[in-house]
Amino acid sequence: MILTIPNVLSPAALAEARDALESAPWEDGAGTAGHQASLVKSNRQLPAGDPVARRLGAMIAQALGNHPLFVSAALPLHFLPPMFNRYEGGGEYGTHVDGAIRRVPGLDRTIRTDVSCTLFFADPEEYDGGELVIEDTYGAHSVKLPAGHAVVYPSTSLHRVNPVTRGRRIASFMWIQSLVRDDQRRAMLFDLDCAIRDLGTERSGDSPVVTLTGIYHNLLRQWAET
Ligand code: NI
Repeated sequence: MILTIPNVLSPAALAEARDALESAPWEDGAGTAGHQASLVKSNRQLPAGDPVARRLGAMIAQALGNHPLFVSAALPLHFLPPMFNRYEGGGEYGTHVDGAIRRVPGLDRTIRTDVSCTLFFADPEEYDGGELVIEDTYGAHSVKLPAGHAVVYPSTSLHRVNPVTRGRRIASFMWIQSLVRDDQRRAMLFDLDCAIRDLGTERSGDSPVVTLTGIYHNLLRQWAET
């Protein structure tokens, strides 16, 4: 499932973040990629321990954690601290798959990457190219969202960032270990949750709503790993 999460950051938070990112110490992004990915990666990133990255990362994780659509779609268990990248002057990230297991910076533990998320900091008209292209069984999907919007997609998918031929594309990206590792199961739970919400606003207290809510939680009980 590929889903847009609108308005993750308020205009004020977005402006503050963009300001802070302007003067941040960007470094070569190839250092944090695995072997295959490093061969096709040409961008800049903020070091994981950088104070701006940590402050903005915490703000993003909190905003996503409070966003009902994100929570329903990703069913997050663990967040890897959000990272930041910048593409310009033809920079790109060729087709790759994200590593399955990532070490949590500063902690002696790892997370499994189930859900990937990209939050856009530049508006589409600020740069040419730079589309995030995600492949799934239905084909390739090109994603280029307004600043402050995010996309979530399965970490299992092949994806790339097209070359940025004008302007500058700044984004945050992060991985989430989900309560439900399988994308199809997460998608079914998401659809069921949305349907229950739609019913609930029209027929509050109806017993079918209660029955469906019970089914949702019982499926989650079957499939969740904590
Ligand atoms: Ni990737």
